[in-house]
Amino acid sequence: MSRPFPADEPFLNGNYAPWPMEGEIRDLVVEGEIPREIEGSYYRNGPNPQYPPRGRYHWFDGDGMIHAFRIRDGRASYRNRWVRTARFQLERAAGEALFGGLADFGNSDPRVGANMTSPNAANTNIVWHAGRLLALWEAGPTHALDPRTLETVGPYDFGGKLAGPMTAHPKLDPESGEMLCFGYSPLPPFLRYHVVSKDGRLVRTEEIEVPVPTMMHDFIVTRDHVIFMVCPAVFRLENLEKGLPVINWEPELGTRIGVMPRAGGSRDVVWFEADPCYVFHPMNAWSEAGRVVADVCRYPRVPLMGDSAEQGMQDLSARLTRWTLDLASGTLKEEALDDASSEFPRLDERHAGLAYRHGYAAGALPRDQERAGFDSILHYDLEKGTRRAHRVGPQDAVGEPIFVPRTPDAAEGDGFLLALVYRGAEQRSELLILDAQHVEGAPLARVCLPHRIPFGFHGNWAQGV
Ligand SMILES: [Fe+2]
Repeated sequence: MSRPFPADEPFLNGNYAPWPMEGEIRDLVVEGEIPREIEGSYYRNGPNPQYPPRGRYHWFDGDGMIHAFRIRDGRASYRNRWVRTARFQLERAAGEALFGGLADFGNSDPRVGANMTSPNAANTNIVWHAGRLLALWEAGPTHALDPRTLETVGPYDFGGKLAGPMTAHPKLDPESGEMLCFGYSPLPPFLRYHVVSKDGRLVRTEEIEVPVPTMMHDFIVTRDHVIFMVCPAVFRLENLEKGLPVINWEPELGTRIGVMPRAGGSRDVVWFEADPCYVFHPMNAWSEAGRVVADVCRYPRVPLMGDSAEQGMQDLSARLTRWTLDLASGTLKEEALDDASSEFPRLDERHAGLAYRHGYAAGALPRDQERAGFDSILHYDLEKGTRRAHRVGPQDAVGEPIFVPRTPDAAEGDGFLLALVYRGAEQRSELLILDAQHVEGAPLARVCLPHRIPFGFHGNWAQGV
């Protein structure tokens, strides 16, 4: 008989607890009406451990599970499947967890089996590019999936061309159709930049020199520049022997922001100094008249890692912040755009890397009682400087909002927001469909599941798929 999941791990309980089933629902109950313009698939990835952990559990460790909603003619179907990684298959054959995770780096207990090469969990993001659906995890190659059945085709490294790991946050260039990526590593080379052509070929790799290896979760690409955020969450492999966290917060190093011309290489990077901070996710950035403007969700220190790991969700409070990087003077201006806590920032992706007006995020607005998770879907009008919110109930929580344009050539921000919401009282989840221009209004549609989808990370829309 298999062991139960531990009751004392915060990221294995409540709506963080894994959902143990794979299945399919052909015609979901819809309250309201799904706009007929919406035709395609929404895919969402997140950690969903198959077996109870051997040691401690970190939210970033769980096996990736994909939840997919296919929408057409005002109707929606659902399917979920784990990504069949090597780890998933080895553990399924064994009937138990075999590997330690992030929380056990440096743990010498052989029963935990901790090692520096924790196998690919494929649990962080999922993107559709050049006819391929790729599940992503930032410390390894991608996994290709069948877009209809979600069956795992297998690990995918661009025909052997991907050197090192690949970020879970590639950027799709709306003008060129390219997919821009990077990979970071605790071992040299610490940072690489990659370009994948519109037709899916990895055509360029540049090694980028950085002073120390850091955990670099995301980056930004504009029409003219690539921006690397070297926040002081530093890999210290020597900490392994001392039983200390491998990712060490070193604020004295400050944050360094590297701006590289798209056509350039490591020697062309212009570095800017900023106060120590951590950024998991940028909203967007653009280049104009000798400067780069970048909007990011900024933490004063790295959450969830190292000394911050024990604080869990309580520590997850980033603020939307604008950096203006002046390339001529080498100076950086930093200003908070909002005082509310926000994460999972997104935009109308047709403006990725370009000047833009509308941004979206999951947010936590001040509320009387303490609660975990995000209670609002936020819409920022960055031109007007306003923020609107779609707030859910006190026991509910929302995930990352995804923008779907009404039509391919609709104006920026004219479209829909898709977001998962967990209804705590009923312990089930829904796909909310909001009018992106009136997020505070009643949802256009609530696509209802009879079960819950655990809190996860990122998703994307695949038009017409
Ligand atoms: Fe992320």
